[in-house]
Amino acid sequence: MTVSLARHSGFCFGVRRAIQLALDAAQGGQEIFTLGELIHNPQYVQQMADLGIKVVPSAADIHDSIVVIRSHGITKSELQQLTDNGNTIIDATCPYVSRTHDLVREAVTSGIQVLILGDPKHPEVIGMHSYGDQDTLVVAPGDEIPKLRDNRLCVISQTTQTIENLNDLVSKLLPDLLELRVFNTICLATSQRQQASACLAKNSDLMVVIGGRHSSNTRMLARLCAQYTETIHVETEAELKAEDFMGRQNIGLAAGASTPEETIVSVYNKIKKINGEPDAVTRISEIPLFKEESC
Ligand code: F3S
Repeated sequence: MTVSLARHSGFCFGVRRAIQLALDAAQGGQEIFTLGELIHNPQYVQQMADLGIKVVPSAADIHDSIVVIRSHGITKSELQQLTDNGNTIIDATCPYVSRTHDLVREAVTSGIQVLILGDPKHPEVIGMHSYGDQDTLVVAPGDEIPKLRDNRLCVISQTTQTIENLNDLVSKLLPDLLELRVFNTICLATSQRQQASACLAKNSDLMVVIGGRHSSNTRMLARLCAQYTETIHVETEAELKAEDFMGRQNIGLAAGASTPEETIVSVYNKIKKINGEPDAVTRISEIPLFKEESC
C-alpha cells in the first residue's frame, strides 16, 4: 500500500502568519486573546491556550487587553467595539481577506451592488458582508440567485471557494446583466490545495482529508476529492479505522490550510501502522509527496 500526501497541504501563509503574530505577542508573558478561534482546529486551539492564548467568543467580552484578529477577519462593528473597549489590536487578518474587504467597500462607494459568493454563516463571509451596504447580498454555491437591485453587479468570492463555483455563478448571472464585474478572490493557497488534492484523488482508491470539521477549506477539499474517489474526512488519527483501508492500494492524504503538521504526521503514521509498517515519520517532509505531473 502506498500513502502519498498532496503536494500542497497543511498550513497556508495566512494561518502561519496569524499563529506567528500570536506567539510573538504571547512571548511577553501576558495573556493574549483571539476573537473566535485563530484557526479551525480544536487540538491546536488547546495548544495555544496552554501558551496563554485564549479564545473569547465576542468583542463585547474583551476590555483593555491584547487581541489578535484571526486570519479570516472580523466584522467592521467588531473591530470598532474592540477599539472602543480600549484593546490593543494585533491584526492578523490574511492580506487575501483584507483585499476582499477593500473590494466590497470600493464597489459600494462606486455605486455598484455587491454579491458575495460563499457560505453566509462563515465568519469570513460575515466579515466581508459587513463592509457592504444594505443592498449587499450573499449567495451560497448552487443556491438560487437573489433578486438584484438593477442590471449592474460586482461579484466577489470567499477566498476558499472553488473556481468551478465562481464560474457557475458568473455564467448564470451574465445573461441578465448589462455590467458584471468579477473579482477572483480565491486565494492562491486554496487553489493550490484544491488542484493538488484533486490530482491525487484521481490517482487514489481512498482519500483521507485531514482538518477541522468547521474548516471551510478542508470541507471544500473533502467535497472535491469525493468527486473522484472514495473520501473520508477526519480531524485526527483517532478517527481512522482499520476496515477503511482493507484492500486499498493507493491512499492519498490531503490537509486543509489550518491543519497542523503534527496532525498530518500522526494520520500518516497510523495508516502505516494499520498496514503493519512500524516505521514512523516525525516530520511532514518525510512523507512521500504525490508527483502532480502524472495527472
Ligand atoms: Fe489567507 Fe488563503 Fe490561508 S485567504 S488564511 S492564505 S486559505
